[in-house]
Amino acid sequence: MKFFIDTANLVDIKKAYKMGVLSGVTTNPSLVAKEGVKFEDRIEEILQAVPEVESVSAEVSPYAETAEQMIAEAEELIKINGGDEKVTIKVPMTVAGLETTRYLAKKGVKVNVTLIFTVNQALLAARAGASYVSPFLGRLDDISEDGVLLVSKIADLFRIHNLDAQIIAASVRHPDHVTRVAMAGAHIATIPYSVIEQLTKHPLTDQGIEKFAADWAKAPKN
Ligand code: E4P
Repeated sequence: MKFFIDTANLVDIKKAYKMGVLSGVTTNPSLVAKEGVKFEDRIEEILQAVPEVESVSAEVSPYAETAEQMIAEAEELIKINGGDEKVTIKVPMTVAGLETTRYLAKKGVKVNVTLIFTVNQALLAARAGASYVSPFLGRLDDISEDGVLLVSKIADLFRIHNLDAQIIAASVRHPDHVTRVAMAGAHIATIPYSVIEQLTKHPLTDQGIEKFAADWAKAPKN
Protein backbone atom coordinates (compact mmCIF):
# COMPACT_ATOMS: atom_id res chain seq x y z
CA MET A 1 0.00 0.00 0.00
CA LYS A 2 1.22 3.46 -0.90
CA PHE A 3 0.91 6.65 1.14
CA PHE A 4 -0.69 9.86 -0.08
CA ILE A 5 -0.99 12.91 2.17
CA ASP A 6 -4.45 14.42 2.62
CA THR A 7 -3.87 18.15 3.01
CA ALA A 8 -3.30 21.42 1.19
CA ASN A 9 -0.77 22.54 3.81
CA LEU A 10 2.55 23.05 2.06
CA VAL A 11 4.67 22.66 5.19
CA ASP A 12 3.13 19.27 5.98
CA ILE A 13 3.42 18.16 2.35
CA LYS A 14 7.10 19.08 2.26
CA LYS A 15 7.78 17.26 5.56
CA ALA A 16 6.10 14.06 4.35
CA TYR A 17 7.87 14.24 0.98
CA LYS A 18 11.23 14.65 2.69
CA MET A 19 10.48 11.57 4.79
CA GLY A 20 10.63 9.59 1.54
CA VAL A 21 7.32 7.76 1.81
CA LEU A 22 5.02 9.93 -0.24
CA SER A 23 3.44 8.76 -3.51
CA GLY A 24 0.79 11.44 -3.89
CA VAL A 25 -1.28 14.29 -2.47
CA THR A 26 -5.05 14.68 -2.16
CA THR A 27 -6.78 17.98 -1.54
CA ASN A 28 -10.44 18.92 -1.32
CA PRO A 29 -12.35 22.23 -1.17
CA SER A 30 -12.44 22.18 2.65
CA LEU A 31 -8.70 21.52 2.97
CA VAL A 32 -7.79 24.31 0.53
CA ALA A 33 -10.24 26.77 2.14
CA LYS A 34 -8.53 26.14 5.50
CA GLU A 35 -5.25 27.42 4.04
CA GLY A 36 -6.72 30.80 2.98
CA VAL A 37 -4.96 30.74 -0.42
CA LYS A 38 -6.10 30.79 -4.03
CA PHE A 39 -6.90 27.24 -5.12
CA GLU A 40 -4.97 27.15 -8.43
CA ASP A 41 -1.93 28.81 -6.84
CA ARG A 42 -1.79 26.22 -4.09
CA ILE A 43 -2.14 23.31 -6.51
CA GLU A 44 0.78 24.71 -8.50
CA GLU A 45 2.89 25.11 -5.35
CA ILE A 46 2.09 21.53 -4.36
CA LEU A 47 3.01 20.18 -7.81
CA GLN A 48 6.34 21.94 -7.62
CA ALA A 49 7.03 20.71 -4.08
CA VAL A 50 6.56 17.01 -4.88
CA PRO A 51 8.16 16.32 -8.28
CA GLU A 52 8.45 12.56 -7.85
CA VAL A 53 4.92 11.56 -6.82
CA GLU A 54 2.40 9.84 -9.10
CA SER A 55 -0.63 12.02 -8.42
CA VAL A 56 -1.85 15.33 -7.00
CA SER A 57 -5.64 15.46 -6.76
CA ALA A 58 -7.31 18.79 -7.51
CA GLU A 59 -11.06 18.76 -6.98
CA VAL A 60 -13.57 20.53 -9.20
CA SER A 61 -15.40 23.28 -7.33
CA PRO A 62 -18.67 22.65 -5.52
CA TYR A 63 -20.25 25.10 -8.00
CA ALA A 64 -19.66 22.70 -10.89
CA GLU A 65 -22.80 20.57 -10.92
CA THR A 66 -23.08 19.50 -14.57
CA ALA A 67 -20.54 17.47 -16.53
CA GLU A 68 -20.01 20.47 -18.83
CA GLN A 69 -19.13 22.66 -15.83
CA MET A 70 -16.84 20.00 -14.33
CA ILE A 71 -15.07 19.43 -17.65
CA ALA A 72 -14.58 23.18 -18.15
CA GLU A 73 -12.93 23.44 -14.72
CA ALA A 74 -10.88 20.28 -15.29
CA GLU A 75 -9.56 21.68 -18.54
CA GLU A 76 -8.14 24.66 -16.66
CA LEU A 77 -6.74 22.49 -13.85
CA ILE A 78 -4.81 20.21 -16.21
CA LYS A 79 -2.93 23.25 -17.55
CA ILE A 80 -1.46 24.05 -14.13
CA ASN A 81 2.33 23.87 -13.87
CA GLY A 82 2.70 23.61 -17.64
CA GLY A 83 0.30 20.68 -18.08
CA ASP A 84 1.79 18.61 -15.26
CA GLU A 85 0.79 14.94 -15.69
CA LYS A 86 0.54 14.45 -11.95
CA VAL A 87 -2.66 16.51 -11.91
CA THR A 88 -5.54 14.18 -11.12
CA ILE A 89 -9.02 15.60 -11.41
CA LYS A 90 -11.15 14.81 -8.40
CA VAL A 91 -14.87 14.65 -9.04
CA PRO A 92 -17.76 13.81 -6.72
CA MET A 93 -19.60 10.52 -7.10
CA THR A 94 -22.61 11.82 -9.03
CA VAL A 95 -24.04 11.13 -12.48
CA ALA A 96 -22.27 14.27 -13.74
CA GLY A 97 -19.08 13.12 -12.01
CA LEU A 98 -19.25 9.80 -13.89
CA GLU A 99 -19.83 11.53 -17.23
CA THR A 100 -16.85 13.77 -16.51
CA THR A 101 -14.75 10.75 -15.55
CA ARG A 102 -15.48 8.98 -18.84
CA TYR A 103 -14.73 12.12 -20.86
CA LEU A 104 -11.43 12.86 -19.11
CA ALA A 105 -10.28 9.23 -18.95
CA LYS A 106 -10.70 8.93 -22.72
CA LYS A 107 -8.42 11.94 -23.08
CA GLY A 108 -5.82 10.25 -20.86
CA VAL A 109 -6.46 12.45 -17.81
CA LYS A 110 -6.34 10.71 -14.41
CA VAL A 111 -9.55 10.99 -12.38
CA ASN A 112 -10.16 10.37 -8.68
CA VAL A 113 -13.85 9.76 -7.92
CA THR A 114 -14.44 10.93 -4.38
CA LEU A 115 -17.15 10.66 -1.72
CA ILE A 116 -17.62 6.91 -2.25
CA PHE A 117 -19.70 5.19 0.42
CA THR A 118 -20.90 1.99 -1.28
CA VAL A 119 -19.43 -0.85 -3.33
CA ASN A 120 -21.78 0.00 -6.21
CA GLN A 121 -20.49 3.56 -6.35
CA ALA A 122 -16.91 2.25 -6.57
CA LEU A 123 -17.90 -0.18 -9.34
CA LEU A 124 -19.54 2.59 -11.36
CA ALA A 125 -16.53 4.87 -10.95
CA ALA A 126 -14.13 2.14 -12.05
CA ARG A 127 -16.28 1.31 -15.07
CA ALA A 128 -16.42 4.98 -16.06
CA GLY A 129 -12.61 4.90 -16.25
CA ALA A 130 -11.47 6.36 -12.94
CA SER A 131 -7.81 5.86 -12.12
CA TYR A 132 -8.65 6.17 -8.42
CA VAL A 133 -11.74 5.66 -6.25
CA SER A 134 -11.89 7.17 -2.78
CA PRO A 135 -14.05 5.45 -0.15
CA PHE A 136 -14.34 7.64 2.98
CA LEU A 137 -13.97 5.22 5.86
CA GLY A 138 -13.84 7.65 8.79
CA ARG A 139 -17.11 9.28 7.81
CA LEU A 140 -18.77 5.84 7.70
CA ASP A 141 -17.35 4.98 11.12
CA ASP A 142 -18.78 8.30 12.35
CA ILE A 143 -22.28 7.04 11.56
CA SER A 144 -21.62 3.64 13.13
CA GLU A 145 -20.99 1.83 9.84
CA ASP A 146 -17.83 -0.14 9.06
CA GLY A 147 -15.54 1.87 6.78
CA VAL A 148 -12.76 -0.74 6.63
CA LEU A 149 -15.29 -3.41 5.61
CA LEU A 150 -16.30 -1.21 2.67
CA VAL A 151 -12.65 -0.92 1.56
CA SER A 152 -12.25 -4.67 1.86
CA LYS A 153 -15.38 -5.36 -0.24
CA ILE A 154 -14.27 -2.92 -2.96
CA ALA A 155 -10.83 -4.57 -3.04
CA ASP A 156 -12.45 -8.03 -3.45
CA LEU A 157 -14.74 -6.74 -6.17
CA PHE A 158 -11.93 -5.11 -8.14
CA ARG A 159 -9.90 -8.35 -7.91
CA ILE A 160 -12.83 -10.55 -9.02
CA HIS A 161 -13.58 -8.35 -12.03
CA ASN A 162 -9.99 -7.36 -12.88
CA LEU A 163 -10.69 -3.66 -12.51
CA ASP A 164 -7.53 -1.65 -12.42
CA ALA A 165 -8.74 1.50 -10.62
CA GLN A 166 -6.70 2.02 -7.47
CA ILE A 167 -8.51 2.26 -4.15
CA ILE A 168 -7.54 5.28 -2.09
CA ALA A 169 -8.71 4.72 1.49
CA ALA A 170 -9.73 8.26 2.48
CA SER A 171 -11.03 9.94 5.64
CA VAL A 172 -8.41 8.03 7.60
CA ARG A 173 -8.34 9.10 11.24
CA HIS A 174 -5.74 7.01 13.11
CA PRO A 175 -2.92 4.44 12.71
CA ASP A 176 -5.22 1.46 13.21
CA HIS A 177 -7.23 2.57 10.17
CA VAL A 178 -3.98 2.53 8.17
CA THR A 179 -3.05 -1.02 9.20
CA ARG A 180 -6.55 -2.32 8.61
CA VAL A 181 -7.00 -0.79 5.13
CA ALA A 182 -3.56 -2.07 4.11
CA MET A 183 -4.61 -5.59 5.18
CA ALA A 184 -7.99 -5.11 3.46
CA GLY A 185 -6.30 -4.50 0.11
CA ALA A 186 -6.38 -0.70 -0.36
CA HIS A 187 -3.73 0.34 -2.88
CA ILE A 188 -3.27 3.71 -1.21
CA ALA A 189 -4.19 5.42 2.07
CA THR A 190 -4.46 9.19 2.03
CA ILE A 191 -3.80 10.51 5.50
CA PRO A 192 -3.12 13.75 7.34
CA TYR A 193 0.50 14.51 8.36
CA SER A 194 -0.32 14.04 12.06
CA VAL A 195 -1.27 10.40 11.38
CA ILE A 196 1.81 9.80 9.17
CA GLU A 197 3.93 11.00 12.09
CA GLN A 198 2.03 8.78 14.54
CA LEU A 199 2.85 5.79 12.33
CA THR A 200 6.56 6.27 13.00
CA LYS A 201 6.14 6.08 16.79
CA HIS A 202 6.30 3.36 19.40
CA PRO A 203 7.30 3.85 23.05
CA LEU A 204 9.68 0.86 22.86
CA THR A 205 11.44 2.49 19.88
CA ASP A 206 12.04 5.62 21.99
CA GLN A 207 13.16 3.55 25.00
CA GLY A 208 15.46 1.50 22.75
CA ILE A 209 17.11 4.64 21.35
CA GLU A 210 17.61 6.01 24.87
CA LYS A 211 19.13 2.73 26.08
CA PHE A 212 21.51 2.49 23.10
CA ALA A 213 22.59 6.09 23.70
CA ALA A 214 23.20 5.45 27.42
CA ASP A 215 25.17 2.24 26.76
CA TRP A 216 27.16 3.92 24.00
CA ALA A 217 28.14 6.74 26.35
CA LYS A 218 29.49 4.16 28.86
CA ALA A 219 31.55 2.22 26.27
CA PRO A 220 35.32 2.90 26.13
CA LYS A 221 36.33 5.27 23.33
CA ASN A 222 39.71 5.33 21.50
C1 E4P B 1 -10.04 12.47 0.54
O1 E4P B 1 -9.48 12.66 -0.51
C2 E4P B 1 -10.61 13.52 1.42
O2 E4P B 1 -9.89 14.71 1.21
C3 E4P B 1 -10.51 13.23 2.89
O3 E4P B 1 -9.87 12.02 3.18
C4 E4P B 1 -11.72 13.54 3.70
O4 E4P B 1 -11.50 13.21 5.04
P1 E4P B 1 -12.38 13.78 6.24
O5 E4P B 1 -13.55 12.89 6.42
O6 E4P B 1 -11.44 13.71 7.42
O7 E4P B 1 -12.77 15.19 5.89
